[in-house]
Amino acid sequence: MRNYCTIIAAVGMNNVIGMEGRLPWRIPSDLKWFNHYIIGKSLLMGRRTYECLPPSKLPQSDLIVLTRDMNAPAIPRVRYAHSMPEALKMERTSRDLYVIGGTEVYAEAMPYTHRMLITRVHASPPGDTFFPEFGEEWDLENIPCWEKRDPRDEFDTAHEIWVRYI
Ligand SMILES: NC(=O)c1ccc[n+]([C@@H]2O[C@H](COP(=O)([O-])OP(=O)(O)OC[C@H]3O[C@@H](n4cnc5c(N)ncnc54)[C@H](OP(=O)(O)O)[C@@H]3O)[C@@H](O)[C@H]2O)c1
Repeated sequence: MRNYCTIIAAVGMNNVIGMEGRLPWRIPSDLKWFNHYIIGKSLLMGRRTYECLPPSKLPQSDLIVLTRDMNAPAIPRVRYAHSMPEALKMERTSRDLYVIGGTEVYAEAMPYTHRMLITRVHASPPGDTFFPEFGEEWDLENIPCWEKRDPRDEFDTAHEIWVRYI
């Protein structure tokens, strides 16, 4: 299968992405950046991420939610998949599938991904959920700059764009 997914994540210096079902920081500029990319796209996420980001917060996107629960409730704009191959088949022809977490979903989607948009957060807060390790086949495409992009941001961030061609 060709690589057609984009992974999007905000990741601490210690690779943390989540704490007790929430983000471990408050960074309004990153939510703006995230929305800029995902509006109108199909979003693939795990059930726990879905529970923090219900459809009302993603009004213009179609959601594919991975769960092993065969009796998940029917919700408008939400499609359920019970395995990664099933999820990927739902968007086989599109380059607009954005994978938005969490850990297991990022790891399983990575072989089908050509680009990762990582907001690196200049902090190492405690957490219980981590971005998976990725290999040397990934190249950093840009020169990321640390910035406080919004005065309300709790930490500086840098936008990393990772790509791979194999
Ligand atoms: N910083 C970021 O960019 C970012 C992004 C996303 C999430 N987060 C954070 O990460 C945490 C949530 O992530 P998480 O890793 O704990 O959970 P998650 O990946 O969002 O959800 C895990 C659940 O997804 C389902 N699932 C995963 N892989 C599956 C597969 N191959 N087949 C079928 N179902 C599958 C299972 O649901 P069932 O239990 O229903 O079977 C599993 O329990 C939260 O703290 C959230 O705030 C951060």
